[in-house]
Amino acid sequence: MSASSPVSRPTPAGHVAPLPPFDLVIFGGTGDLALRKLLPALFHRYLDGQIVDGSRIVAIARDARTDDEYRTRVREALAKAAAEDPRGTDVLDRFLALLSYRRLDLGDDAGWPAFAEELAGAERVRVFYLAVGPDLFAVVADRLHVHGLIDPRTRVVVEKPLGHDGQSANAINDALGRVFDETQIYRIDHYLGKETVQNLTALRFGNALFEPLWKAEHIDHVQISAAETVGVEGRAAYYDRSGALRDMVQNHLLQLLCLVAMEPPASLSADDIRDAKLKVLRALRPITADNAAQLTVRGQYRAGAAEGRAVPGYAEELGAASDTETFVALKAEVRNWRWAGVPFYLRTGKRLPERSSEIVVTFRKVPHSIFDEGEGGSRLAPNKLVLRLQPDEGVTLWLMNKVPGPGGLRLRHVPMDLSFAEAFGGRQADAYERLLGDVVRGNQMLFMRRDEVEAAWQWIDPIRAAWQAAHEAPKPYTAGTWGPSAAVALIERDGRTWHEDAG
Ligand code: BG6
Repeated sequence: MSASSPVSRPTPAGHVAPLPPFDLVIFGGTGDLALRKLLPALFHRYLDGQIVDGSRIVAIARDARTDDEYRTRVREALAKAAAEDPRGTDVLDRFLALLSYRRLDLGDDAGWPAFAEELAGAERVRVFYLAVGPDLFAVVADRLHVHGLIDPRTRVVVEKPLGHDGQSANAINDALGRVFDETQIYRIDHYLGKETVQNLTALRFGNALFEPLWKAEHIDHVQISAAETVGVEGRAAYYDRSGALRDMVQNHLLQLLCLVAMEPPASLSADDIRDAKLKVLRALRPITADNAAQLTVRGQYRAGAAEGRAVPGYAEELGAASDTETFVALKAEVRNWRWAGVPFYLRTGKRLPERSSEIVVTFRKVPHSIFDEGEGGSRLAPNKLVLRLQPDEGVTLWLMNKVPGPGGLRLRHVPMDLSFAEAFGGRQADAYERLLGDVVRGNQMLFMRRDEVEAAWQWIDPIRAAWQAAHEAPKPYTAGTWGPSAAVALIERDGRTWHEDAG
């Protein structure tokens, strides 16, 4: 099959434009991210005809194995996805033929000249995906430079964590910046590739309905939650050095906050969007030792239950006592004309009762009720726009409606539901599918610019410093509950409740 005859199967959403053949090199090609996320995403793009034959995917790791051994490993990882496709293993074989494996020791120059030779000559986009620890980013960047592997069509993709504080993030960005132009650097935040997150921009700027109301005058508050049922599992070594604030808030939750709060960008160009997000980050009210106790809650799970089975606490999983938080709730504020006085409550945690991530925008109540709000009457609830990231991506608008039938005029708060799966049908693409395609296309819209990462750390670092100065252990919560009771108090003090409590 040639580049001009891609495997063709348009997505339910319609048109799939094939990408010109490209080279993708995955450092950490045998790791969890590569096998669980990147290769399945690439395979789905291949199934949809977006990745064409002639493209090359090279996996790099330290241990010795042949191309065939690597393909066998990937075949296992993709078995489920392949089984779901009517074309079965035939198309999987064709995809696996794009893959090769190369053993490289990052600290040693041996092997690099031959690798450079293998890639040389092809007039195409070349993507280096650094699915390795951040301590290796500078090393790899330097090797790529020394061995002449970077040209203007080269792109580098880096995963979080981009450092563990502002200073270490700057060091990484400096190292990347020495050999790559900013336009070649793709800092992935996979939340930006989620359908609902992109739909937020579509809803805000593609409809006349919301934007006029999108301000303090009409919005009471915003909640952004990312709840997980999983614990830290095999990632305890990384997680214990990170904690929920750095693992989820610094990146995913702040990015969501930016998209909710940003001013309308002039266009969808990467820099227009990123300029708008940057302004939000810079407008965040600092949380410091003076106010951290009122505005933040950190927790750590103890033994409890998850998905119907008993699970150990964080310290048992880790095998040691630890002060790392597995839960954070905080109250942020964007200090500008649009948002003055509107709280943004952020909450994320592991071992919570359900896996659900959502953005809830609660509007103000009507200024005056003409309905009977007494006992048995119609208590007016505020309108809410709920953007569900997962599971079951979709948008729900909560409205007051008349209860049908004769009798008195009674009202009820009812959801107007738009489930993506029902409205658009078909499989929902994983965030990485979109993001990998954007890298090859050269679209940085959904990737973080250096100054955004810096601004995010500038807000996060003082929170950590305040926690450290307070010497307080994270508050315990039982696995399978919604975090420490202090997180409930954080929002209830303001006369509000977390969304799931509101029913
Ligand atoms: C990652 C975090 O960035 O996001 C993980 O490092 C977390 O700790 C994951 O589990 C959550 O992603 P998703 O897409 O499952 O919500």
